Amino acid sequence: MNDSIKQQIRDLLKKHNAVLLAHNYMRDEVQEIADITGDSLALSMEAAKTRADVIVFCGVQFMAESAAILSPDKKVLLPRPDAGCPMADMVTAEELEALKAAHPAAPVVTYVNSSAEVKAHSDICCTSANALKVVRSLREEELIFVPDRNLGRWVAKFVPEKRFIFWEGFCPTHERMTVEAVLKKKAEHPDALFVCHPESAPEVSALADHVCSTSGMYDWCRQSPAKKFIIGTEAGILYKLRLENPGKEFILASPALFCPNMKLTSLEDVLHSLQTMSPVVTVSEEVRVKARAALDQMLAVPRD
Ligand code: 13P
Ligand code: SF4
Repeated sequence: MNDSIKQQIRDLLKKHNAVLLAHNYMRDEVQEIADITGDSLALSMEAAKTRADVIVFCGVQFMAESAAILSPDKKVLLPRPDAGCPMADMVTAEELEALKAAHPAAPVVTYVNSSAEVKAHSDICCTSANALKVVRSLREEELIFVPDRNLGRWVAKFVPEKRFIFWEGFCPTHERMTVEAVLKKKAEHPDALFVCHPESAPEVSALADHVCSTSGMYDWCRQSPAKKFIIGTEAGILYKLRLENPGKEFILASPALFCPNMKLTSLEDVLHSLQTMSPVVTVSEEVRVKARAALDQMLAVPRD
């Protein structure tokens, strides 16, 4: 059954000169069929440079919006338009404007897990993979960081010379990973290293041997001589970790690490989207141009 759906998807991708991008948290079978899987930064970069006519984005709303902002000449399909991100919904453009009015000299650094409108009111975007580099690239001492309080506070630890104005947004999935759950796994697997995403609560990140983006976890676990890892991010990451590291063991830090939005997209949804060429994600030109400037600022920050 899945094989026939996969074949139909492949045929339609070819017919429409479409590329299938999937975030590292997608269901295993969606990652399996994707042309490219990656973290938010890698997928944004791919969306900006692909020569395809159509981008099928298997992820959540803000990611597909970023693709539409970066590639206005392409059709961007989001197979599940109801796949949102609660963190992105935690700050509005109006709320950000009020914060800016209170701190007029502070540039706004906006995590890509945000709406196109919020990006349009920002100076520069960041992802979890480049947030520290983005903050270090700013001349100003004081900055506004929205919407993720945990990523913001994690970055702030490395730049004590800067003053952060935080927004109290968070990822409900990562915040469900408790200290107790992590300590339990550590006690069960004393020989394992613990790696977690910077969206985790600070008291959880404090327990980690390493904190990084989802793609950073692939690199770190691959290069590490350790054989066992406790993984503190959404469960979808396990698919490729296990595939790429057959001799290593990966244990999810908490059964709560399950993002309902990231798990919505099925192969049937992808097929339906390609058959109907919908739903199309669009961003108004006024918002797009301003949001693009903030994303371009981010993409211009040297990677290393
Ligand atoms: P990254 O893949 O960029 O690390 O982002 C994680 C995330 O929560 C996306 O929603
Ligand atoms: Fe949003 Fe968290 Fe889900 Fe990522 S994992 S889409 S930040 S709710």
